[in-house]
Amino acid sequence: MPQDIIFSPLCNELAAKAREIAEKHVRPAAAKYDKAQEYNWEAARAVASAGLFRTFVPKEYGGHGAGLLALARVTEELARADSGFGVAYAVNALGSFPILVGGTEEQKQRWLPPIARGEKMVAFCLSEKFAGSDAGGLSVRAYEDGDDYVICGEKKWTTNGGVADIYSVFAVTDATSKSRRISALVVEKGTPGFSIRKVEDKMGIRCVPVVETHFDHVRVPKENLIGGRPGMGFKHAMMTLDLARPGVAAQAVGAAQGALDLAVVYSNRRHQFGVPIHNHQMVQKMLADMAMKTEAARWLVYLAAVTAESGSPNTTKQAAMAKCFATDTAMEVATEAVQVFGGYGYMEDYPIAKFFRDAKILQIYEGTNQVQRIVIARNLVKEARDLEHLEAYIPREVQNSYEAEGVSAPAQPA
Ligand code: CAA
Repeated sequence: MPQDIIFSPLCNELAAKAREIAEKHVRPAAAKYDKAQEYNWEAARAVASAGLFRTFVPKEYGGHGAGLLALARVTEELARADSGFGVAYAVNALGSFPILVGGTEEQKQRWLPPIARGEKMVAFCLSEKFAGSDAGGLSVRAYEDGDDYVICGEKKWTTNGGVADIYSVFAVTDATSKSRRISALVVEKGTPGFSIRKVEDKMGIRCVPVVETHFDHVRVPKENLIGGRPGMGFKHAMMTLDLARPGVAAQAVGAAQGALDLAVVYSNRRHQFGVPIHNHQMVQKMLADMAMKTEAARWLVYLAAVTAESGSPNTTKQAAMAKCFATDTAMEVATEAVQVFGGYGYMEDYPIAKFFRDAKILQIYEGTNQVQRIVIARNLVKEARDLEHLEAYIPREVQNSYEAEGVSAPAQPA
């Protein structure tokens, strides 16, 4: 890979540190935390002391200001060892982005420096039991009461819930408005009325908690309203997801690469019919396809990260394409890797089964891949406005009716 052309020295340095931590603190403990369904604090502390939580935070708030490409590289390296730990790391960026994209200067000064230092973990509370893909259909309410907002309701699938100290919570502040219905508020751990109720028992990514967060008249000061202006929440959520999706896509690339690495090593070691199985053409085809798709996903992800970083209007589409393609790739590659391992792949004795279990959620969270395809198609149609010069090449035929004169023919298409 032409590292020095594409990546800054800082980006390379952060990725190298991530890889070292991944091999030292993440991979060896992955099975243990997966089985126990416990958070890997040892690895999180190593990530903090290596300064990797600073990656996505701008310099003026105590970060490295290394940008989304560096965030993608760090996430990829961690996920290559354990996809679950990849999200345990990247979800802090997801939870921080509402403050970064929409917060006031005071809010950024207040919450971002401890996040950068790795002292405070973050979570993103958008989804609800009946509002997943339809992110605008929330029911959690926040109403004004004097100098405060009072939040009531419950959120579902809060990744990092319990571990996190800071929660970006999306709630309805104006039920009568269509476009300014939702606002985002910061709720800190320990605020009265805020609790974690159900800790989900998951198929994969078991080292990071996914929980229900409950808000029973949680009172937060108006200073916690992100941006200081109500009604901006849906926009901030969408802008956040545009920035975060390259990160989840990077998690997918790491997961795919991790599964491929194991499959290649196994294909060397495993002999059948007197030769290592990589000598069999059908195995070669599998490995080659896995490698090509992983590499294609990787560069789509880097492109999305750079596009999002530049503030380009193409960000939404690029982020959705990277998320969709990379996560579909991770599922496919992990499935094929299990196949290469054969019977051993199906056993929980070896990490390959975990790569398979961990991959599935990638196609679901941070917007299902069905939603990504909606986003991509909508943006393609918008962009088609710039393709008017191609109208001359589009069929514009007329249907003859041969009806008797005076009889009105059905309308012709324009
Ligand atoms: N940036 C800025 N604004 C945007 C935007 C974007 N990318 N996308 C939409 N908007 C704005 C629109 O301009 C529009 O604004 P106006 O009202 O001012 O015109 C408004 O938002 C509504 O837009 P749409 O009509 O497109 O909204 P929609 O209701 O049709 O929904 C959707 C669009 C793409 C389906 C959206 O609801 C969506 O992304 N759903 C998926 C939600 C999701 O990703 N959830 C993930 C939860 S987080 C998670 O999973 C993390 C984890 O656990 C680790």
